[in-house]
This record gives sequence, C-alpha cells and structure tokens, in this order.
Amino acid sequence: MTEAYSKLRRAADYARERTAFSPRAALVLGSGLGAFADDMEEVASIGYGELPGFPESTVEGHRGRFVFGYERATPVVVMQGRVHYYEGYSAEETVMPVRLARLLGAETLILTNSAGAINADYAPGDFMLICDHILRGVPSPLIGPNIGELGPRFPDMSEVYSGELRKKARDAAARLGIALREGVYLQTSGPNFETPAEIRAYRALGADAVGMSTACEAIAARHAGMRVCGVSCVSNLAAGMSSAPLTHEDVQTAAAEAAPRFRALISELLSGLQRTAGAAGA
Ligand code: HPA
Repeated sequence: MTEAYSKLRRAADYARERTAFSPRAALVLGSGLGAFADDMEEVASIGYGELPGFPESTVEGHRGRFVFGYERATPVVVMQGRVHYYEGYSAEETVMPVRLARLLGAETLILTNSAGAINADYAPGDFMLICDHILRGVPSPLIGPNIGELGPRFPDMSEVYSGELRKKARDAAARLGIALREGVYLQTSGPNFETPAEIRAYRALGADAVGMSTACEAIAARHAGMRVCGVSCVSNLAAGMSSAPLTHEDVQTAAAEAAPRFRALISELLSGLQRTAGAAGA
C-alpha cells in the first residue's frame, strides 16, 4: 500500500467514526460560492484540519470543511472551500479531498469555480459548462507511486467531463431559463493573475476561461473512476480584456452576486442524479 493511500485510509476511517453517511455525489465549491453548503440539510461536518495528514485551506473565501447532507434528497458531500497548488501544497495534496470523497462512496463529482473569461463573447455573471480542460504550469496530481486501489497508472483522459452529465446540466439550465456557455477551462498555477500576453496565448491554445483550480481535481476523479461535471462562474474578463486591474475581492464579489442563480443550477443538477455503478475498487 502506498504512503499516500494509507494517509487517505486513515482520514477515511476518521470520517467514518464521525458519520456513517454515504454520499452519492461530491460537490466542490469555488471562490465566493461557499454559501451553498450553509443552506443544505446538514447531517455532519468535518474540518479539513481535523483529518490526520490533511491539507488546510488558507485562502480568504474558502472555509475548508466537508459538509455531509441532502440537497433535494440527493445524499452529497460538499467541499466548502478547496486547497490550491499556489498555497504551497503539492498537486497530489490538492486532490486529497476529492479522493477522500471517493473513498466515502461518492461516484459523481461536481466541480465549481470562479474563472476569468478568455472567450470574448463571455461576460461576468455567465456560467460555463466545462467540456474539456488544459493543465498548464501545474504537474499532474497523479505523479508519484500509483495508488492502484483507486485507479490505473495511465488513465484515459479523452472524456474527463461526462457527456451524460453535461446533457443533464444543459437540461437543468434550460428548465431554469439560465443561459449556459460551454467551453474549455485552463488551470494555471496562480497565485498571480495572468499577463495579457499569456491570455492571448491561452486563447490560441483553445481555452475559453482561466482559473487556478479544478483540472487537477477532475484528473484525480477520473483516475478513481468518478463521473465528473464542471461549471465555471465567469467573475471577470481575463487580463488585457478590460482596463481594470484584477483583484481577488472583485472575483469574490462577482461570484457572490451570481451565487443565487448558481445555487439554483447546481441544486437542479444534483436533484436529477441517478446512481451508477462505481468503477473504482475502493
Ligand atoms: N485568472 C485566473 N484565475 C481566476 C480569474 C482570472 O482571471 N478569475 C477568477 N479566477
């Protein structure tokens, strides 16, 4: 058994002592979107800091705890706040919460984030369904001894974001009358925002939105056989696309403004999730 896996097992055993709750889906809440967990029917919660060997979120606007409960009758574990590579954690450490959710039974992962628009047709307040991603400047979270209990050494990444879940997300948005863009998300290391030249380069690479999270978590989830869906909340135009300098506070404010619509969309998506056979032998 690898060291990384025994650490995860210890954290899973601790969580199991605290609650027998078995989530069907896991949800990661991005910057400014954390309030989702406060409105849920909560059964239990565990701070990342309570879990042995777990990374703690140090970012303003990220609380760093698991909330177990029901959203419209679907049993979910919500990660209220995430840990980022730019905080100094390894890429592998940033995906520990997702892997723990998998060990606790979650088969589906819904990832949310705030992102800067690279696509010139997007505007702050728009939502973008992630159809694919580009990981840039961050190593794969799978580097290191493979955790065979979770998945294979060389996992396929040709459909990271489930086509079936994307359809469900599109249907959920249509039912609510919410417009949903669809595009490619690029994860950078952060913590600095990009330069205008980098944004032009990312546009040429095929990216529609940029942020500092999500792709690593999606990779770890696919490795562990989870179905993945990702939705970005466009909080700003990326560097060089407007005259205003970028700030974390503006990102949080824009995300908080969009939060009620975002909440409705994610809730509608969660309510329609069906159980599927798990692929990982966890
Ligand atoms: N760049 C990187 N990350 C972000 C941005 C951005 O413009 N907006 C929100 N997260």
